Amino acid sequence: MSEPLVYLNGRFVPHSEATVHVEDRGLLFADGIYEVVRVYGGRPFALDEHFHRLERSAAYMRLPLPAPVDELKTAALELLSRSGLQEATIYVQVTRGGGVPRNHAFPKEPRPTVFMIAREARPPAPELKERGASLITVPDRRWHLCHVKSIGLFLNCLAKQEALEAGADDALFVRGAVVTEASSANFMAVWGGELRTHPEGEWILSGITRQVVLTLAREAGIPVVERPFTVEELSLADEAFITGTTTEVLPVVRIDGRPVGSGRPGPVTRRLEEMYAARVRGR
Ligand code: PDD
Repeated sequence: MSEPLVYLNGRFVPHSEATVHVEDRGLLFADGIYEVVRVYGGRPFALDEHFHRLERSAAYMRLPLPAPVDELKTAALELLSRSGLQEATIYVQVTRGGGVPRNHAFPKEPRPTVFMIAREARPPAPELKERGASLITVPDRRWHLCHVKSIGLFLNCLAKQEALEAGADDALFVRGAVVTEASSANFMAVWGGELRTHPEGEWILSGITRQVVLTLAREAGIPVVERPFTVEELSLADEAFITGTTTEVLPVVRIDGRPVGSGRPGPVTRRLEEMYAARVRGR
């Protein structure tokens, strides 16, 4: 695979030459935000929604975007076109920049850093999609701004690592008794044909895939309820799955070693998986 091309602060540069300041606030304070966009058949899916969320995340963190969002979007498209990739992800990151000595206070004249990387997509393995994922629950000790797509992801990384070390595929965050989301995906479950997921707010990321899947479910006549539920309630669910830009719709068949429903991907999940696969390719 050839070296990915990077867009960095207005220029297209080879990956090995794309460097940022050692005191960039992204490195020092995780003072930055990001987006991941999936490209199918050369066409970015939900590009506007991702850049709109980037703008919202920037506003929450009082982080000035280095260029109007439309300019950043145009740069993302240019990067994709130069990469020649058809099945790809575009990673976008903006930080409050560097170039001044470390200081918690925001710099008076921030020089934000923006970069984007287009890479070959790595969708979930067909074998994993076929059998379904197993999750372990972990206490959700993250901060209270999970709706902001911040690059401060240590507890997400730790949760994923713990899941892998436990022989599972991913972690499911539980705040108090309430199930919130997975380490890098939203979580949904089905009881008696009704689809439930945690409502939007400060405890989950307002996933773009989540929104698309809820719309698809409503289109398919599947009842949708956005309401918190506990681990105990979840133990009685018939089906479960996670949703995300890179995860797509992935069945969940075991949680903490116990089967979800029949222990096999369920019919509502499979239906939404198919509908999602068609929607991202514009069908
Ligand atoms: N993660 N929840 C969390 C904590 C996430 O990190 C993500 C996405 C999602 C799903 O959001 P969306 O459907 O908009 O991708 C939910 C990205 C893909 C990542 O960190 O790589």
